[in-house]
Amino acid sequence: SIRQELAGKKIIITAGPTYEKIDPVRFIGNYSSGKMGFALAEECAARGAEVTLIAGPVSLKAYHSSICRIDVESAREMYDVALREYPGADAAIMCAAVADYAPDHCSDIKIKRSGDDIVLRLQPNPDIAAALGKIKRQNQVLAGFALETDNEEEHARLKMKRKNLDFIVLNSLKDAGAGFRCDTNKVTILTRDGEKIPFEVKPKKEVASDIISVLSGYMK
Ligand code: PMT
Repeated sequence: SIRQELAGKKIIITAGPTYEKIDPVRFIGNYSSGKMGFALAEECAARGAEVTLIAGPVSLKAYHSSICRIDVESAREMYDVALREYPGADAAIMCAAVADYAPDHCSDIKIKRSGDDIVLRLQPNPDIAAALGKIKRQNQVLAGFALETDNEEEHARLKMKRKNLDFIVLNSLKDAGAGFRCDTNKVTILTRDGEKIPFEVKPKKEVASDIISVLSGYMK
């Protein structure tokens, strides 16, 4: 049975990778497929929420009629939409794999091949989760993800603190069946109150349900 416990709530989800343009045909990106973020969006909508899904370049479809999808390409574009939408929302979950750096300029023409080395100069992108953490009000919830490869819990807790998140969903590339592209994930939820909730490997749809049940507890 579908619970409508999030009826009347507006929730923002970011999903997928960002592409940072190098020239008209090339970009810096990452392996995110959007599956985890889209599963979160469907789960929130199934529980009655109005969802704004801010999606990087992915080849997925959103199905539920309560999902309003906004497609973006770069971290800068995702930042602008997220900052515009968050003041009107009750919660946001930052599931996108945002590029931390972008080329300092995009060439107007395709960069030609030559025998020489070329240098790409990168500059830091804005941290979207941290920016929302700065403007977060008392009655708003903010959750993030941490994708780690080493010292997982320590890094995740530091990110939660630095970005002013209520909880963070840790997934590790050390775990089989976790992270990018696959249909499953293995997560541990860490809360700002020091709680630690580990879960088994399971389909991303079920992982989404576990995460939204925790989110729901913050929204009563
Ligand atoms: O899309 P899938 O193929 O299903 O894969 C799912 C996933 C692995 C992408 C997902 O589960 C996940 O871990 N998403 C976060 C990936 C990430 O970029 O993690 P991070 O540890 O680098 O970032 C920490 C948090 O800050 C994240 O909530 C991220 O969205 C946010 N962030 C990071 C950088 C930035 N410039 N702005 C941000 O908002």
